[in-house]
Amino acid sequence: MKTQAAVVHEPGKPIEIEELELDEPREGEVLIQYLYAGLCHSDVHIAHGDLEARLPMVLGHEGAGVIQEVGPGVTRVKPGDHVVCSFIPNCGTCRYCANGQQSICDLGATLLEGSLPGGRFPYRGSAGEYGAMCLLGTFSQYGVVHQSSVVPVDESLPLDKAVLVGCGVPTGWGSAINTAEVKAGDTVVVLGVGGIGINAVQAAAFAGAKHLIAIDPLANKREKALELGATHAFASATDAMETVADLTGGQMADSAILTPGLLTTENVTDGFNLVGKAGIVVLTALNKLDEINIQLPASVLTLFRKQVRGSLFGDCNPTTDIPRLLGLYQNGNLKLDEIITRTYRLDEVNRGYEDLLSGANVRGVVVHSH
Ligand SMILES: NC(=O)c1ccc[n+]([C@@H]2O[C@H](COP(=O)([O-])OP(=O)(O)OC[C@H]3O[C@@H](n4cnc5c(N)ncnc54)[C@H](O)[C@@H]3O)[C@@H](O)[C@H]2O)c1
Ligand SMILES: [Zn+2]
Ligand SMILES: [Zn+2]
Repeated sequence: MKTQAAVVHEPGKPIEIEELELDEPREGEVLIQYLYAGLCHSDVHIAHGDLEARLPMVLGHEGAGVIQEVGPGVTRVKPGDHVVCSFIPNCGTCRYCANGQQSICDLGATLLEGSLPGGRFPYRGSAGEYGAMCLLGTFSQYGVVHQSSVVPVDESLPLDKAVLVGCGVPTGWGSAINTAEVKAGDTVVVLGVGGIGINAVQAAAFAGAKHLIAIDPLANKREKALELGATHAFASATDAMETVADLTGGQMADSAILTPGLLTTENVTDGFNLVGKAGIVVLTALNKLDEINIQLPASVLTLFRKQVRGSLFGDCNPTTDIPRLLGLYQNGNLKLDEIITRTYRLDEVNRGYEDLLSGANVRGVVVHSH
């Protein structure tokens, strides 16, 4: 079948809309009609070449839609099911899935290759075989994905909002709850209030952070953070430092969650200085794979027993956490409508990324037409 898709051919060049040929689903695979796709900064990392992917690649890794067809051996979903995609597939049986760490499932090995488990590429076009970002490629009207990349959800949920639970929500929420281990009474700093950071703010507030300090150079982001639970907001880590010291009697924060667009050495050092003894610095934002951007005094880390932790998909388990987080949306404890700033057609995807980079959006969402 044919599908319109947004494709990166060359790093630094605009994303192109192209008609591609899509294969039928084979063993363990499903055909999905994508209805909505969120715009995340990680797509920009692929488009800019910060994360070096095999190209051409269909962009998009935050998606929701309806299952159209299933290949042989598919047991997790059936045609007609509403699903939210997980940008991390989970096989269920590798060492990491089996011990409850689905976010580091071995099937994640081809995230930047964009091939399905087993190595095949279901999209073809003028430039040959096309990969799909995170095995999804949600900026396509249709996709063929492995059953381990989709999670069925309650049909009463609005998929135009639930779509954010494919990346931004679990990544941000889990960075706070799972990786930073935020507990009631904690002092928490969130640095960078985009589609990921705003969900770390929501989670820390929900977990009962006493002081919740949001840092972002942009006023619209600081306002949104204050609206959704931050107690203080600053334009820079330098501006926040004194208040964090005052609020905690000099003990500094229990955790700092780093969610800026592109993670720098300065961000990591700021996070390290914002936390106190036994403080946890969570690295969620990304940069080039070979960028050396942790330069810290190891003896201070040791003597203050600080920890620096990486967080992938918020260390969530998609099969259980996507429905759990959507349950929090259903009962009003997780806000989704409030964090979607605007929507785009697929052919406006470059405009959507300009808005992301200028900071106009907390989260933008592509609405597919069929
Ligand atoms: N680890 C994971 O599993 C995972 C998953 C998804 C996204 N990410 C990464 O998380 C990061 C954030 O993604 P996003 O979609 O929320 O991006 P975004 O562009 O929507 O938001 C980034 C925010 O950071 C702010 N910012 C930039 N520099 C800052 C600084 N020095 N101090 C404070 N704030 C600053 C920007 O103003 C913006 O509001 C990206 O690097 C993305 O690739 C990681
Ligand atoms: Zn993402
Ligand atoms: Zn696995």
